[in-house]
Amino acid sequence: MPELKPTPRPQATKAVKGMPDILPGVSERWQALEQAIRQVAAGSGYREIRTALMERTELFERGVGDGTDIVSKEMFTFSKSADAESAKRLTLRPEGTAGVVRAFIEHGLSRQPKPLRLYYTGPMFRYERPQAGRQRQFHQAGFELFGVDSPSADAELVILAKNVLDALGVTPDLYTLHVNNVGDAATRERFSGIIREALAPHAETLCEDCQLRLQKNALRVLDCKHPNCAALHTRLALPEQLQTSLNGKPAAEQYEATLALLSALKIPFERNPRLVRGLDYYTRFVFEFTVSPSAATKLGAQSTFCGGGRYNNLVSALGGPETPAVGLAFGLERLLLLMPDGCESKFAQDTAFVASVQPENALKLAQALRKQTPGRSVLVALEPKTIGKWLDQANKQGAVSAYLQGQDEAEQGDWLLKNLTTGQQTTLPQTELFN
Ligand code: HAM
Repeated sequence: MPELKPTPRPQATKAVKGMPDILPGVSERWQALEQAIRQVAAGSGYREIRTALMERTELFERGVGDGTDIVSKEMFTFSKSADAESAKRLTLRPEGTAGVVRAFIEHGLSRQPKPLRLYYTGPMFRYERPQAGRQRQFHQAGFELFGVDSPSADAELVILAKNVLDALGVTPDLYTLHVNNVGDAATRERFSGIIREALAPHAETLCEDCQLRLQKNALRVLDCKHPNCAALHTRLALPEQLQTSLNGKPAAEQYEATLALLSALKIPFERNPRLVRGLDYYTRFVFEFTVSPSAATKLGAQSTFCGGGRYNNLVSALGGPETPAVGLAFGLERLLLLMPDGCESKFAQDTAFVASVQPENALKLAQALRKQTPGRSVLVALEPKTIGKWLDQANKQGAVSAYLQGQDEAEQGDWLLKNLTTGQQTTLPQTELFN
């Protein structure tokens, strides 16, 4: 007889690099995080908006800015030429604000009473080099407030962020709030002029990225982390020059009033004249939350877990009516790393296990228990086994109590209720359990 060779197992398909799965065991932490965000949003009158994961590429080119790293290097863009509609270039959203503004204009939300408060959570996509805290598919929770340009509106966004952190048990020693004023659109133009003029004689000492930025998006050179560039900015006192040029302007007055509100609410902040953010739509007040050095190892090199600011020109730039707006987004993977261990347990309900020699009895009791305590997890034994094996299974699946019915109990119409933590056991008549 010729020897039969075993058929080789087909190779398993792997997940895409930088797009990890979220498995049970971790997904509970995500649920706790999302639940806290929803509670905080509801507590301040923010209502959920869900926009598509894909938008026309031009939305981000016009909205986020084609000189930004996000648009010029990091977007997942493609076209399907089968029909005219999708022949247009499409992009997996790299951030949420542009899509929310698109929907705001498209559905006439601008006609609703102001302020309009919206929030969203969901996956975003950026083609970046994956590392701890940086992925190609990541999640954000964002809050956007439309229709009001005031220090209270600016402060409301910071307060929201603080409320999310408090709800998750992320204590203030773990983070720093950085704030800055990037001025209005005209000021940004002037800033760019000042930067180009100051750096022109030093162009060859700048890093490659900054040489490009200087032409396309001069303001972005300010947050370059390259040591040569950063040292040069300090020597030329560039950030300070820009702030001085804002003095006496309405944007500066509003900025100081916003900071006074934060102080009144005892929210500490650091003025950071280098903070310019990586998206072009910002005007005036911008901010970022970064992890403090004591917690920095948790996030690797990625220390910013929340960023936002005012964007008074975006709605009109995308074809809507003049509408001031301010918003923020949390990076949820990074926030998750800062949450204390076990904080998901306060949202968790306990698990019960139900097994009977009569499958119908087990299914019926499980239904009754689920109705009695919504949200409680009730697992049903799906195969006949001995009581001992069922108890093993119940323990392995994390149950804290087991409702068991062997042959005798089934004949008597009773259930054995076992507390799997203490080992205590009682017999209960079926009628009592079905109440
Ligand atoms: P952003 O600063 O580009 O702002 O992103 C917000 C947060 O998303 C970052 O602070 C970071 O925590 C997280 N994040 C960004 N890229 C990645 C990545 N590759 N992997 C993991 N996390 C990441 C915005 O997107 C603006 N739309 C925020 C905003 C809303 N401004 C006004 N309204």
